[in-house]
Amino acid sequence: MEKLTMEQISNYCKQYGFIYPGSEIYGGFANTWDFGPLGSRMINNIKDCWRKRFVGQRDNSYEIDCGIIMNPKVWEASGHAKSFNDPQVDCKECKKRYRADNLISSVSPDVNPDLMTYEEMNKYIKENIKCPSCGKSNFTDLREFDLMFKTYRGTISDQKTEIYLRPETCQGEYINFQNVLRTAREKLPFTIAQVGKSFRNEVTPGNFLFRTIEFEQMELQIFCKPGEDEAIFNFNKKQSMKFLTDLGVNPENLRFKDHDKLVFYASAATDIQYNFPTGWDELWGIHNRTNYDLTQHSKFSGKDLSYLDSETNEKYIPYILETAAGVGRMMLVFLCDALKKETLEDGSIRDVLKLHPALAPYKVAILPLIKKVHSEKAKEVYNKLNNYFMCTMDDSSSIGKRYRRQDAIGTPFCITIDDTTLENNKVTIRDRDTMEQIILNIDDIPYYVIEKTMF
Ligand code: GAP
Repeated sequence: MEKLTMEQISNYCKQYGFIYPGSEIYGGFANTWDFGPLGSRMINNIKDCWRKRFVGQRDNSYEIDCGIIMNPKVWEASGHAKSFNDPQVDCKECKKRYRADNLISSVSPDVNPDLMTYEEMNKYIKENIKCPSCGKSNFTDLREFDLMFKTYRGTISDQKTEIYLRPETCQGEYINFQNVLRTAREKLPFTIAQVGKSFRNEVTPGNFLFRTIEFEQMELQIFCKPGEDEAIFNFNKKQSMKFLTDLGVNPENLRFKDHDKLVFYASAATDIQYNFPTGWDELWGIHNRTNYDLTQHSKFSGKDLSYLDSETNEKYIPYILETAAGVGRMMLVFLCDALKKETLEDGSIRDVLKLHPALAPYKVAILPLIKKVHSEKAKEVYNKLNNYFMCTMDDSSSIGKRYRRQDAIGTPFCITIDDTTLENNKVTIRDRDTMEQIILNIDDIPYYVIEKTMF
């Protein structure tokens, strides 16, 4: 089947109520998106699966929820206040703006900008690149573009009151390391998890949910003894990949890609990449951050963040292994991978969203065969099943059209209420993927569906 384009996927999401363009009635606001009823359900399902796997089912793993706004010193310690920027160039002819590294890799796929300094990128662009938009070669000098969103606290906007919206969630986990260690009565290794919004003033946001200025992250920070870090890094690489394939992503569309150039404090970094409609790109970063973060926060806060190992009596600054993924970017992966156009035996074509049932917005749709006759019983079944999982009821148009609607939004099971149901309390339950139907007692539906939709 031909790969769908990003535009087709975004139109589909708008049509069915997954994702709408942000501020649409005001003409939109570039690269901002609002999640509709189905999108919000799906986003929550992704986060629930992640929490279940990496917090609930993992020993010594604790979720916290920190502020988006923190003491500005946090960002001095982390280095973001000074140097969280991307290289930017503008075409002087058509005024189009580019992230310099992306411009080089899109025009010259054989050249790796990650291995270049900013000066080398500047020179390469000037000597080798024509603007993809107007074809001219007349670029500004490369500039560093600050990705931090700044705002002001209080009533006077001056330097002293300048604060930042966090560009990543992990710093909240680092500055709470000792709080969690103490209150959870933990020992190393242990994990702090966080899910929350981050903000980056991206040079070139775009490609639907792929790069936005406001996005959610799901991050794990694993604190460990130096020397144990390599094994934990490798374990988390495998576990992150397994999470995606367990949720049905085609392994052929996933790969590991080691970073060509490590930031100075990291000792290892790998991305899980997905083969998006626009090509292979990062979905999930796995990093060995060494003892850099806690060392920096010790230095800037004046608090000793070292750990006393009660078994060996050694004192050291723990190492941190990180896994960091964007929720919206992951949703995009699940949508790209699951959306299919299927030709059926009778030659007709159906749109079907083959999401893992745990991710599907609704687990069950209840369809009364004839509205006037079967709606009352259908409502009774709907009210019962809604206690267990998210259901929807649809009583308009032909049963075939209703099946198609549910296929298109990924509902794994459709239950038809007909005369037999009124007689003996039995229903027909249809599977989205195989389209096979079986008969079940109403009382047996919760167990059947929970078992099939669990992650
Ligand atoms: N704490 C480490 C960190 O934030 P990152 O590689 O900059 O690492 C982690 O970000 C993940 O967050 C990325 O792999 C991506 O999934 C997501 N992400 C980063 N910037 C994003 C953006 N502008 N829009 C959407 N998702 C983004």
